[in-house]
Amino acid sequence: MTNKSLHIVGFCGSLRKDSLNKALLIQASQLLPDHYQFTFADISQLPHYNQDLEEDLPVSVQEIAQLAQSADAFLISSPEYNYSVPGVLKNALDWLSRPFVGAPLATKPVAIMGATPGLFGTARAQVHLRDILFGMNMAPIRRPEVLIPQAPSKLDNGVLTDETSRQFLKQLVDNLVSAVERHQ
Ligand code: FNR
Repeated sequence: MTNKSLHIVGFCGSLRKDSLNKALLIQASQLLPDHYQFTFADISQLPHYNQDLEEDLPVSVQEIAQLAQSADAFLISSPEYNYSVPGVLKNALDWLSRPFVGAPLATKPVAIMGATPGLFGTARAQVHLRDILFGMNMAPIRRPEVLIPQAPSKLDNGVLTDETSRQFLKQLVDNLVSAVERHQ
């Protein structure tokens, strides 16, 4: 940790090396104010959620729970898989919802976004994701809804070149920052 005073943790619903959503998440993190620290959470090592494992929590779960505990708020960028939230992301959220790990996401602000090569920009997955986050007693930022359709033409080598998309993303990040400051 640096001496930066506020901490945002980012989750990506895709494990793919060249993920459009990971690129979008990094772009969003770069719009945070200078005194915010950003950490990307690696959810790839988490085991499938199994209540039996709560008796002897796997190290990967302990580490991600500690990281989430240290966060003031969260950014989530996710693709849509079969009209919904990818299993890897749901699995991470399920682990982090549990009292055994201190439910480190509950009550904290979270901003969501998504990118897809298709035309619907993850809209259907985001509806489901909002429901899940409400169920976990998180505080999702309601507007703007950041959906990036036809993303390969807008993310050039990971840089969001589409000006309209950038403005929406900046507004979302600004709204998250306002929520963090209200939440302090
Ligand atoms: C997809 N994709 C997809 N796209 C979409 O718009 N709606 C959908 O329901 C689905 N379903 C789906 C299921 C599965 C299993 C895969 C692998 C893909 C396409 C998806 O949007 C595309 O692969 C994105 O590029 C994935 O995001 P990342 O990995 O680039 O972040």
